[in-house]
Amino acid sequence: MTSLDDFIDGAPKAELHLHIEGTLEPELMFALAQRNGIDTGYETTDNVRAAYDFSNLQDFLDIYYAACDVLVTEQDFYDLAWAYLQKAHAQNIVHAEIMFDPQTHTERGVAFETVITGLTRAMDDATTQLDLSTGLIMSFLRHLDEASAERTLDQGLEHRDKIIAVGLDSSELGHPPEKFARVFARARGEGFLPVAHAGEEGPPANVSDSLDILKVRRIDHGVRAVEDPALVERLAAAEIPLTVCPFSNVRLGVFATLADHPLKAMLAAGLKATVNSDDPAYFGGYLNENFSATAAALDLNRDDVAALIRNSFDAAFLPAADITALHTRLDAYVASSD
Ligand code: HPA
Ligand code: ZN
Repeated sequence: MTSLDDFIDGAPKAELHLHIEGTLEPELMFALAQRNGIDTGYETTDNVRAAYDFSNLQDFLDIYYAACDVLVTEQDFYDLAWAYLQKAHAQNIVHAEIMFDPQTHTERGVAFETVITGLTRAMDDATTQLDLSTGLIMSFLRHLDEASAERTLDQGLEHRDKIIAVGLDSSELGHPPEKFARVFARARGEGFLPVAHAGEEGPPANVSDSLDILKVRRIDHGVRAVEDPALVERLAAAEIPLTVCPFSNVRLGVFATLADHPLKAMLAAGLKATVNSDDPAYFGGYLNENFSATAAALDLNRDDVAALIRNSFDAAFLPAADITALHTRLDAYVASSD
């Protein structure tokens, strides 16, 4: 019988919570720094990795935003996205919904168009060369004001056909969902599907407020919802997908160890949880590593893993026929695995 790790590796999968800036590996960071004549402030890639010892979300964000300085040209954004997409393909990810943070780049003078053109050129190549479908999610930075998000939405509207959804990320504490009520309403009116990070470091109320005020279709993270039984019931009844990122939660101190992670309890409570890598270059692994280590720590079996993958297909922003095709593909894989 194939091992659970082999089953995970070979399974067709979707990834729905992935920040493209969080896939910047130290080696590529140095290569881009050299190409653009930028000093990263680090001597070696080992020094970079040693700095990834975070005690909370803000600690991580400070390092993550600083590293983005090496991303300058359209080719840099292409190279960043292409590196992730090749890795995703090697892990048998067949559909990826990719977040990007435009303001991280426009705030330092890089044109929105430079960013989105580089990213989407790589995504188009993934469709044709890797048989990997993709969607792009434009995330607003919640530590900046709503006016900045509104300007970003205006820029996104100039590339309407390239973006499927809007998201909300960065520092959750002190920046609740209602701060972005108006820009989300306008984005929904323009046909963007709304998602938001909530209940990662912030309280369960951020999850319910994201549903009620931002009218999100998925919650990114949402793990702190487990503190509120009524909210768990609501999420389960409404089948709201949660894009859970186990390595991220442990590396950012949301839970002490993977064994303390509530993923198994979330499945048992009927929640539509999915597994994702969030910022894999920073948190110690890509999607398969997240699945394997979490399955080992929580004693998940093959059925649990398949259920998590099916949840991610159901939660994907894809036409119903494409979702059915993904299920068929997974069913065939499960049937052929011994
Ligand atoms: N939370 C908030 N903002 C982020 C994250 C995250 O996990 N990753 C990248 N930006
Ligand atoms: Zn995230």
